[in-house]
Amino acid sequence: MKRIVVLASGSGSNAENIIKYFQKNATIKITHVLSNKKDAKVLEKAKKHNINSLYFNTSFLTSEEGLLSFLKEHADYIVLAGFLQRIPKIIVSTFPNKIINIHPALLPKYGGKGMYGMHVHKAVVENKETKTGMTIHFVNENYDEGAIIFQQSVPILPNDTPKVVAVKVLALEHAFFPKIIEKVINEQR
Ligand code: GRF
Repeated sequence: MKRIVVLASGSGSNAENIIKYFQKNATIKITHVLSNKKDAKVLEKAKKHNINSLYFNTSFLTSEEGLLSFLKEHADYIVLAGFLQRIPKIIVSTFPNKIINIHPALLPKYGGKGMYGMHVHKAVVENKETKTGMTIHFVNENYDEGAIIFQQSVPILPNDTPKVVAVKVLALEHAFFPKIIEKVINEQR
């Protein structure tokens, strides 16, 4: 059994989608959803599906007895589904090629500090890009720079607003993220 711990900071539509996808999987299991935001909707969503949900603060994130030891005990894989804090180096080096992130753009473009959520989609529209998409990648010490596992693009039409682009990208995330997580895990067995 491979156990996945999901870290998320926001509404958790990806987390919920992943939970549902693996519900009936006999060899891959979502064991916990953790959030650095006490009131994050993702925690309610996890509870609704009977997944352990836990809020943690910054000192838990960065201390060795905190998140690192929790993950060592509970996780084979860590999935970041809209997690807005940097993962400490010690966690990254303890879990090489086991931490998977999703980013709502075609990296290496539109990545890095400050590039999250609507900031990404606004920048993409302002720059008159004709396509955008999403990137699933392994996490390394540098934000949004780990090895790319999978990308999928979608066209941007001339009148698309950032909100429209956000909806298109989220649909791609929901369609592909669980499948790609499953593929990575099965290929590493
Ligand atoms: C997604 O766009 C994801 O790419 C980004 O954060 C967003 C999370 O959305 N990293 P949700 O909380 O899963 O609805």
